[in-house]
Amino acid sequence: MSEMQNIQWFPGHMTKTKRQIQASLKLVDAVAEIIDARIPISSRNPDLARIIQNKPRIILMNKCDMANQTATKMWIDYFKNQGITAIAVDCKSGRGLNQFAPSVNKVMSSKIERLKEKGMVNPTIRIMIVGIPNVGKSSFINKMVKKNRAKVEDRPGVTRGNQWYTIAKNLEMLDTPGVLWPKFDDKTVGEHLAFTGAVKDQILDIELLAVRLLDFIKKLAPADFLTRFKLDNTIIQSLDSYELLRVIGKKRGMLITGGQIDTERAAIMLLDEFRSAKLGRITVEMPYGE
Ligand code: G4P
Repeated sequence: MSEMQNIQWFPGHMTKTKRQIQASLKLVDAVAEIIDARIPISSRNPDLARIIQNKPRIILMNKCDMANQTATKMWIDYFKNQGITAIAVDCKSGRGLNQFAPSVNKVMSSKIERLKEKGMVNPTIRIMIVGIPNVGKSSFINKMVKKNRAKVEDRPGVTRGNQWYTIAKNLEMLDTPGVLWPKFDDKTVGEHLAFTGAVKDQILDIELLAVRLLDFIKKLAPADFLTRFKLDNTIIQSLDSYELLRVIGKKRGMLITGGQIDTERAAIMLLDEFRSAKLGRITVEMPYGE
């Protein structure tokens, strides 16, 4: 787990981070924004467009192995309608990463053409990775670097400490990602980030969080969830979410002395299983609020 995951963002911290990203932005032609495919709204930084201004960008919908495939396709279309190229990737297995370089080339094609017209032979495109903590920035960088290995030697104009990797023909990536803050002042965003484990559990009431997750799961009633807990849809709809948590705890034999159901353990287990996609490939946020 990345050290950055549990960062607490303070205004001074945000200013410093923003400044660092702006400095790195001067060195790159494009930005790859990594988001969590299960929560494409909450895992985005609200100020990114302003920070990167008119730099071309590409969205990587990461952890797509845990998101609903139809929902991911809908999101890709949604971004396309906004003129943004998005691709689905899974940085754990590496699936989808071979789409990265061709997609960047496509996004950058007019700039590449312009450079060629100016007489540059095979112009190199430089890109940096940005995203909020825990979306998979380090996983992406590690996978791309491992796949390609070629480190670009120090050269003038590159800030000391910045390392570049050639990750495809004429494509270089900055090895240090820009870490962005989420829109944490929004309650729903905080909750959705907590569902996925992107924010510390200690700062939230775990049972309440599990109940909120069950509110959502009840609406969706994913088959994997029903099968896993041997429940049927009519039953879950007849219970409120706290009762449902108790039923789940009981089914798993989570009892404390006196035969009471250990709802805290049940909550931890439920969130764990959601976070590892054992309850199914669930996308929490849909485009257009569908
Ligand atoms: P960050 O740099 O943006 O903070 O994120 P990082 O790469 O550290 O990834 C955070 C967690 O998400 C890691 O899990 C990582 O393995 C996992 N992850 C990243 N991409 C994917 C993906 O596409 N699919 C899945 N299923 N998981 C992904 P961890 O439990 O914190 O660490 P580890 O147990 O994998 O070492």
